[in-house]
Amino acid sequence: MAATPIIIDCDPGADDAIALFFALANPDQLNVLGITTVAGNVPLPLTQKNARCLCELAGHADLPIYAGCPRPLLRPLITAEEVHGRTGLDGIHLPEPQMPLQSQHAVDFLIDTLMQSPQKITLATLGPLTNIAVALIKHPEICSQIEAIVVMGGAVTQGNITPSAEFNVYVDPHAAHVVLSAGLPVTLVTLDVTHQAIATPERLDAIKAINSPISAAVIGLLNHYGTHDMQRYGIPGPPLHDPCVIAYLLQPDLFTTRQAAVTVETTSELTIGRTVVDRWNVTHQPPNATIVETIDADGFFRLLTQAIAALT
Ligand code: BDR
Ligand code: CA
Repeated sequence: MAATPIIIDCDPGADDAIALFFALANPDQLNVLGITTVAGNVPLPLTQKNARCLCELAGHADLPIYAGCPRPLLRPLITAEEVHGRTGLDGIHLPEPQMPLQSQHAVDFLIDTLMQSPQKITLATLGPLTNIAVALIKHPEICSQIEAIVVMGGAVTQGNITPSAEFNVYVDPHAAHVVLSAGLPVTLVTLDVTHQAIATPERLDAIKAINSPISAAVIGLLNHYGTHDMQRYGIPGPPLHDPCVIAYLLQPDLFTTRQAAVTVETTSELTIGRTVVDRWNVTHQPPNATIVETIDADGFFRLLTQAIAALT
């Protein structure tokens, strides 16, 4: 089967970095057409630079990388240096990237690529949904060119940036609303599933044993990023949020899903960014998203470890 054409929209970020390695290690299945970056975990000048550093490290200096929106649609930017560090990639030191940043804006790259493609394209989103929302507003015709959009975002139960909200949706709830109300085939990989993908010491040992520059980078990133979440949640390792999106694209049978109507809270200060998932269809609204509910975590880490080994 031909590789699925995808565009990855991201805000690297430690777990975004691992997701990028994961995708780039599987060219037979995922044909990454470009990487678009957005402000999120750290400001845009860092997310675009980090994306370039990571692609160079992974041997993909040829990949086009675009900078997108520097702030959310309506709210001021909130970043997550307490989790990802000041650089967004604390725990590792990468040289200044040599590969260029493309001059085209990420939103225009998304629109042009979707509209010019002979086949539909899948979007994998790992950060706030600002770029995708702006593309949908600027050129709604892209909808029919999107095969699927797999989003790391939202929470069915507890949030991580507030008790109600997950970080990516909280940073730009209005953009998430635009995406979820566009009639697109949206899949939500929420915190409820990513908190099942815990990088335990045993799983990290298997990655460490690969003993390559990529495995060392993954371990360095997780040693830094792990401490915050391990302390807060009392878990034996960090949850690998964004790589779950890539695993879902590579091997969906590792996951269980259900259809549900999802809306985003955009007005209440207390619960802004909450993804309200009507799991039992009490509103009788038609589903607008596939909610990923469970993951085979051992299968996920086997796939991820193989991918990291393949990038040596
Ligand atoms: C999400 O927020 C970011 O900090 C991570 O990169 C991930 O995309 C998890 O809530
Ligand atoms: Ca992210």
